[in-house]
Amino acid sequence: MSYPFQITSPEAYHQAVQKSIQDPEAFWAEIASTFLWKKRWDKVLDWNFTEPKIEWFKGGTLNITENCIDRHLGQSGNKPAIIWESNDPDEHHRVLTYRDLYNKVVQFANVLKNNGVKKGDRVCLYMGMVPELAIATLACARIGAVHSVIFGGFSAQSIADRLQDAQAGFIVTCDGAFRGNKEIPLKSVIDDALVQCKFVQRVIVLTRTRTPISMLKGRDVWWEDEIKKVETMGNPDCPAEEMNAEDPLFILYTSGSTGKPKGVVHTIGGYMVYTTYSFVNVFQYQPGDVHFCTADIGWITGHSYIVYGPLCAGATTLIFEGVPTWPDAGRFWDVVDKFKVNILYTAPTAIRSLMGFGNDPLIGKDLSSLKVLGSVGEPINEEAWHWFNEKIGKKNCPIVDTWWQTETGGIMISNLAGITASKPSFATLPLPGIQPILVDENGKEIEGNDVSGNLCIKFPWPGILRTTYGDHERCRVNYFATYENLYFTGDGCYRDGDGNYRITGRVDDVLNVSGHRIGTAEVENAINMHAGVVESAVVGYPHDIKGQGIYAFVIFENTHDDEKLTKLDIIQTVSRVIGAIAKPDKIQFVTGLPKTRSGKIMRRILRKIAEDELGSLGDTSTLLDPDVVADIISGKL
Ligand code: PRX
Repeated sequence: MSYPFQITSPEAYHQAVQKSIQDPEAFWAEIASTFLWKKRWDKVLDWNFTEPKIEWFKGGTLNITENCIDRHLGQSGNKPAIIWESNDPDEHHRVLTYRDLYNKVVQFANVLKNNGVKKGDRVCLYMGMVPELAIATLACARIGAVHSVIFGGFSAQSIADRLQDAQAGFIVTCDGAFRGNKEIPLKSVIDDALVQCKFVQRVIVLTRTRTPISMLKGRDVWWEDEIKKVETMGNPDCPAEEMNAEDPLFILYTSGSTGKPKGVVHTIGGYMVYTTYSFVNVFQYQPGDVHFCTADIGWITGHSYIVYGPLCAGATTLIFEGVPTWPDAGRFWDVVDKFKVNILYTAPTAIRSLMGFGNDPLIGKDLSSLKVLGSVGEPINEEAWHWFNEKIGKKNCPIVDTWWQTETGGIMISNLAGITASKPSFATLPLPGIQPILVDENGKEIEGNDVSGNLCIKFPWPGILRTTYGDHERCRVNYFATYENLYFTGDGCYRDGDGNYRITGRVDDVLNVSGHRIGTAEVENAINMHAGVVESAVVGYPHDIKGQGIYAFVIFENTHDDEKLTKLDIIQTVSRVIGAIAKPDKIQFVTGLPKTRSGKIMRRILRKIAEDELGSLGDTSTLLDPDVVADIISGKL
């Protein structure tokens, strides 16, 4: 398969940018025409950012799985679609060709149907990194059900919140998941979540860890038994449901600065076009390349660049069940060596953590298959960039620093590997079709170069979110109301003298911990659930490995309790309410928090204290009680 929309020279890049600005509709229509549609669209784009209403390829119908699988069967049926490497290096890996993937997706799509799942129903997937997670994802898409994958690290309470919000009546899970030396009891977490979710009709359980679990009669069934049932039915086919381009494909929950996580909704046609276009161009994928994205399918990176983008492009995508540091810190390099990986797409936090183990884990590992390296999720610091470049890429592999978000569906600002120049710690230039602008606090455009501002996008692209599930107003307020007629990213950004963009981090109350988004309000709510906590305030601080760590200032009722135990209790509470990813790294007990006279916590001051920037605390005279600041500083961890 060749890609008519692949940009192969710097000149072609600049031409594509020009074209995409002059006539965006023609630009995207040409790209979309290379996909398989059941019916071509009537209108390329209908939009306004006020409501917001964004409709791409309106009137067009398709099924994304025909694009991801069926259309490759003729020429590439025997080509590996998915390579799966187990957590356990001694367990045999698995390879699914496109033909195998087709058979398995069709089979499981029939299982879903047999279990009562219908077009439009929401199906929650809470699984480890096994090929069956990709299979279940695609099986939902095959029959027009809306999947919502929940990362295996979230707690029962987080799952219950999401199930309720999405009104998901169906769950696919595993008995457990392996991650390094840990076994995560997925089914038992689901059981806890379902105490609050009586509307769930069916839980399909895949065997993975053989952890003993309980199966509830009438609700829970085994994946393997259900597959046997469809096998005996003798009809191996499952026609791909004809879907509208603007029908929802999935809901993925992500944190914002207020309230509970919101369900970002992506629709089928635009998401397909955008993930495939960005995959091929950013990584400069060549037929036959093995692509290894180390993210979890529970995050947007896994959705877009393990499953949909690569498979739509007919690529070979690698799914790795384990973690980079188990059984030792050479595991990624073993995987690269074993499967002759050509593209490695990972996160700065993983790079920094591996860098910390020195060069020994690299000894004897053949990394010569690598052609392109990628980074995502947070700003990559220069030291990590250079280590990645020198030790992993041997100065031979372009590094793409890809900036994007759950809401953008795919990569927005990045160099194109080997085509446009990289610059350490800069995401560099927008993809053709993306129109970023920087604005000041009043929404006035900041023109020219060597300037900083808030990053917005001024024209829709096919991968943009369409709504937040069940609450369109929340989508408007969060992304489209801060600045008129602009999509606001929540990120601060610097544009250098050559027009390269460098993301400087969130400008709202959202933390980025190990590349995961966590709202400070969410963590505070969780901490406040501890019976002894009176009040808390959470901010981020620079963390060597995680990028940002979580610093919690807590007012505790009974100051005579054992501090160490109380801290552990609070950490446990956060793990129960959100999941281990949101555990505070530091907890400082304080007697008061810096508040304005109207009672608002001044986080700016707390942030400065947590960051150790005591010289720039700013004006504290407007505080209700300026003395608390000195107290907090004296107790700083
Ligand atoms: O702050 C930006 C940061 O991650 C946020 C998006 O988080 P999430 O929706 O979880 O998606 C992560 C994976 C796409 C952004 O608002 N971010 C993401 N990529 C980069 C980045 N910051 C700097 N450089 C990046 N390459």
